[in-house]
Amino acid sequence: TDDSRLKRIASSIRVIPDFPKPEGVMFQDITTLLLDPQAFKDTIDLFVERYKGKGITVVAGIEARGFIFGPPIALAIGAKFVPMRKPKKLPGEVISEEYSLEYGTDKIEIHVDAVQPGDRALVIDDLVATGGTLSAAIRLLERVGAEVVESACVIELPELKEVRLGYRSEDVQSLVLV
Ligand code: PRP
Repeated sequence: TDDSRLKRIASSIRVIPDFPKPEGVMFQDITTLLLDPQAFKDTIDLFVERYKGKGITVVAGIEARGFIFGPPIALAIGAKFVPMRKPKKLPGEVISEEYSLEYGTDKIEIHVDAVQPGDRALVIDDLVATGGTLSAAIRLLERVGAEVVESACVIELPELKEVRLGYRSEDVQSLVLV
């Protein structure tokens, strides 16, 4: 059942306190999910069951862990995979979008020729916290003319993603709420 699959996925995620900084951050480590082939397959299957046949033409994965979950979903639904990367990693012509962090700002980039107007996009990442990264990814895809159908994450933290995503926060599908 969906419920038993979700329970297995949730229990396969390891929590590491005080990583990467000793500030009480509880790091949600999906590498242990990847060690359980059934949990990994269930994760991909749940997304594929939701998105197959929805006319999605591009799965856009956010660095770094969107590169793990995005490609198997893209292959299964017959969409292209496009990486959205940290600055200065992509070799071709890029456009970038800035977003704010607790201290300072960061950027993500996409190849300008990877997505065309008329593309229907699904954004994938492992986790949404404030929604800052995801909202930058959505803005970037919209700037190159794609329609963002939905965003999907394995894990959602209760960290005010509504502030960043606004009305779009309803469009984020998460498997596990922690
Ligand atoms: C984490 C996570 C998301 C982002 C979510 O990435 O994988 O991409 O933070 O946070 P937000 O909703 O508050 O924007 P991280 O910054 O650890 O980068 P990495 O994937 O390159 O390690």
